[in-house]
Order: sequence, then C-alpha cells, then structure tokens
Amino acid sequence: MSLQEKVEKNIGLMIVLVVLVVSVGGLVEIVPLFYQKSTTEPVEGLKPYDALTLTGRDIYIREGCVGCHSQMIRPFRTETERYGHYSVAGEFTYDRPFLWGSKRTGPDLARVGGRYSDDWHRIHLINPRDVVPESIMPAYPWLEDNVIDASSIESKMRGLAMLGHPYSEAEIAEAAAELEGKSEMDAVIAYLQGLGTLIKNKR
Ligand code: HEC
Repeated sequence: MSLQEKVEKNIGLMIVLVVLVVSVGGLVEIVPLFYQKSTTEPVEGLKPYDALTLTGRDIYIREGCVGCHSQMIRPFRTETERYGHYSVAGEFTYDRPFLWGSKRTGPDLARVGGRYSDDWHRIHLINPRDVVPESIMPAYPWLEDNVIDASSIESKMRGLAMLGHPYSEAEIAEAAAELEGKSEMDAVIAYLQGLGTLIKNKR
C-alpha cells in the first residue's frame, strides 16, 4: 500500500494530518502579526481621542452611521485610488470598539478627515441633499440643536485610561469644561475631521 492509500483509507491518520497542516498554515500566517511593527505599534503621532472627538465618536455610534459607512480601506487598487492609503492596524489602537464596519451604502470614511470643510459637513449633516442632490443619506438636523451632555465624559475617559489609553489627569479634569457650550454637531465634525489624517493620502 502506498503512503497515499494509507492516508486515504485511515480516517484517524487523515484527521491528524489535516489538523497538522491547518495549524502550521495558520501559525505561519498569524504569529508574525504579533511581532510586526505595523500591527503592534500605533502609527506615529497617534493619540487617544480628546474629549470632543471622543464625544463625537459616541454620537456617531448612537446615530448608527456605521450601518452605512465602513472605516476600513482595503489594500486594493480600486480602494486606494478612491479613498487613499489603505488602513493599517496601528491607526486603530484607541478605537474601542473599532468601527470598521462591513456595509457601504455610503462611501468609506476612514480617510474623510480634511477632505471637506467644517461648513460642508454641517450643511451635509443637516440635510445631505443641500450639497449632494442625489444623496440617500438621512438628515441629522438635531445634532445642531442638541447641546453635549458632558456629565459622563470624565468617567468615560477614566474607563479608557484603565484600558491603557494614555490620558493625563489634567486632560481628564479639563474634559467637561472643553465640552461646555458645544453642540453634538461640533463633536461629530471634530471626529470626522480627524479620521485617517495621520497617514496622508500617499498611495
Ligand atoms: C442610510 C445610509 C446612511 C447613513 C445611516 C449615514 N450615511 Fe453618510 N452617506 C450615505 C451616502 C449614500 C452618502 C453619499 C452621498 C452623500 O455624500 O450624501 C454618504 C456620505 C457621507 C459623507 C461624505 C463622504 C465622502 O467621502 O464624500 C459623510 C462625511 C457622511 N456620509 C457621514 C455620515 C455620518 C456622520 C452619519 C451618521 C450621523 C452618516 N453619514 C449616516 C449614507 C448614509
């Protein structure tokens, strides 16, 4: 009996060999990711979200923007031509939870920061049709009227600090004051304008 026949006719041996092949293949792909700089270290200049952008991010989650917008540019030419440099792991160190998403009813937003002016975003969020006539994005006019609720920002930042986000005591202490008088719109725009700006649009 040839070796091939032996393996094909002995299911026990087959299972052992399959498990062996799959684990070696898996380890070869996965283990290097634990040691590569590009997957283990934050990109240069990355800081945890400040009080306003952190609040904007929470509103982005509350309003379900992630249901229509991904934040993950894949490393394909079709993506990088349209959106800019593909996303890298080190950009998401302080994203808890990450908002990569998988549904693109609208465009990917991973590098939308700086692409439009604050005023463009304000008009667009109040009524997308005012700047993009064919848009099917919902309007979010209440963001302009809602004043930020700053009562939980300190505990949010303390929670994130416990998870390793390097906030200083001063940053946490000043957070509530920074949010004073700001609207939810200001926060969402600050969040959008910071997205993906650390890796410039080199392709
Ligand atoms: C029902 C799906 C849907 C939801 C929910 C949604 N959007 Fe959109 N969004 C779109 C579509 C479609 C476009 C493209 C047309 C346009 O620019 O309005 C778009 C465009 C955008 C753009 C411009 C992107 C670019 O590169 O031109 C931004 C910024 C944006 N959305 C932010 C948001 C934010 C913030 C929220 C949540 C408050 C949100 N969107 C919720 C569908 C959606």
